[in-house]
Amino acid sequence: MAGVMFMVLLCFSAGAMLGVRGEDPYLFFTWNVTYGTRSPLGVPQQVILINDQFPGPNINSTSNNNIVINVFNNIDEPFLLTWSGVQQRKNSWQDGVLGTNCPILPGTNFTYHFQVKDQIGSYFYYPTTGMHRAVGGFGGLRINSRLLIPVPYADPEDDYTVVLNDWHTKSPHCSPEAIGWRPLSCKA
Ligand SMILES: *[C@@H]1O[C@H](CO)[C@@H](O)[C@H](O)[C@H]1NC(C)=O
Ligand SMILES: *[C@@H]1O[C@H](CO)[C@@H](O)[C@H](O)[C@H]1NC(C)=O
Ligand SMILES: *[C@@H]1O[C@H](CO)[C@@H](O)[C@H](O)[C@H]1NC(C)=O
Repeated sequence: MAGVMFMVLLCFSAGAMLGVRGEDPYLFFTWNVTYGTRSPLGVPQQVILINDQFPGPNINSTSNNNIVINVFNNIDEPFLLTWSGVQQRKNSWQDGVLGTNCPILPGTNFTYHFQVKDQIGSYFYYPTTGMHRAVGGFGGLRINSRLLIPVPYADPEDDYTVVLNDWHTKSPHCSPEAIGWRPLSCKA
């Protein structure tokens, strides 16, 4: 009898150990980076769009979500995005700055994969190549608190993401020559 009980307990604890290892939820996105024309100051200008949006899409995530973003670079220059403020623990090659990541070459795609681990707040993403950040390709990245983590505030009535940026109408700031940009020696 004791032997049977022991076997039952062993099976139960083994099952418990295998059963509780659930993965955190995933959010999947496909982004298409293109040029487009918008008039932020009333003058039509070339800007960088993501999925035809300027600014780019908001990412609405919850802490510990795994975020997977397949980015297609359809502009004619190398392009790279950074996720400003996301800690990228043991994951620095997803940080999207030159030196940790090669830029995404024109006509190709790259899939970012990172976890917004134990972070809460309003962040943003932007391109780190050339002066791309001055002409678009940026947007909000929100990390909501998981329900199981109590916060000492009432729920907000509503949430808005506001993106602020300097804007210029004069220089052709999409032109690499205008800002002394030289081709990168990074291999694809
Ligand atoms: C991206 O947008 C361009 C221009 O609209 C289109 O030609 C291309 O097929 C799109 N690529 C993807 C992967 O959606
Ligand atoms: C963002 O996600 C949170 C948590 O899932 C949800 O409560 C909220 O309505 C979402 N907000 C938007 C603007 O989609
Ligand atoms: C490029 O996109 C294709 C189609 O979605 C995908 O299968 C592939 O894994 C992506 N490549 C990279 C390097 O992310």
